[in-house]
Amino acid sequence: MNTPQWEKEINRAVRPYSAPVLFFYDVGVYSIWNPFIWRCPSFYMEEHYKHYAASTHLEAGCGTGYLPHRCNPLENQSGDRSMKQWELTLLDFSPGSLTWAARRLRRFKPHIIRHNLFLPLPAISHPFESISLNYVLHCLPGSFPEKEKVIAHLKGTLAPGGVLFGSTILGRDVPLSYSARVVLTLYNALGSFHNNHDTEEGLKRALSRNFHYVTCTVIGAVALFAASDKNLKHGVQTQSTLL
Ligand SMILES: C[S@@+](CC[C@H](N)C(=O)[O-])C[C@H]1O[C@@H](n2cnc3c(N)ncnc32)[C@H](O)[C@@H]1O
Repeated sequence: MNTPQWEKEINRAVRPYSAPVLFFYDVGVYSIWNPFIWRCPSFYMEEHYKHYAASTHLEAGCGTGYLPHRCNPLENQSGDRSMKQWELTLLDFSPGSLTWAARRLRRFKPHIIRHNLFLPLPAISHPFESISLNYVLHCLPGSFPEKEKVIAHLKGTLAPGGVLFGSTILGRDVPLSYSARVVLTLYNALGSFHNNHDTEEGLKRALSRNFHYVTCTVIGAVALFAASDKNLKHGVQTQSTLL
């Protein structure tokens, strides 16, 4: 790690996130890719987000900010009605993603951090009650033993009993249609994805090494996970679903 090759891979994973791609990202990912390629309708990601996002929140790998825009606890029906403010921090290594998400979510006056998730996080004034990591792990170079460093760094900024949750596209041991295999092969060859070896077992192992409680549900090719040192609602749970 930290070799020039490693840095090149990290930059390759971040490079696509500039204005032209971000402009089409929400429609492409949430309306087409999720239901038709990965076979995980976006509804599941949205419900997962609504369930775990708390009042002091870090959005790690924020992209366009689609999920916090639609599913934040301040504005969604199932959110905490007594909450007056959502303390939101946006973190990404791509300046394009940060600019896009910060503009979209300006109503929350978010804190902005440009940072590479493979490095320990800078000192932060308050710990987070929730951290989301949606569709980031499959972009990160390496396989789960390396990606686990990112999980450990994020855990360091969680409040006691806080929750790390999110989603990732798995490349192995999940049902993949022909079109999903073509897209995965292409994205891995381009360096936008690094998930050829990512399995549900590997993800759960990486999370369990850092947290006492882990839940993971696989829908199509997408793993929806949550991890905490506080007992999660469903305790240790694993389940696989093919739509
Ligand atoms: C596929 S997008 C996901 C965006 C959003 N979370 C979502 O679910 O729609 C991945 C995001 O992670 C960011 N990213 C990739 N590698 C990163 C790294 N090493 N450190 C910080 N951010 C990274 C990219 O710049 C991009 O904004």
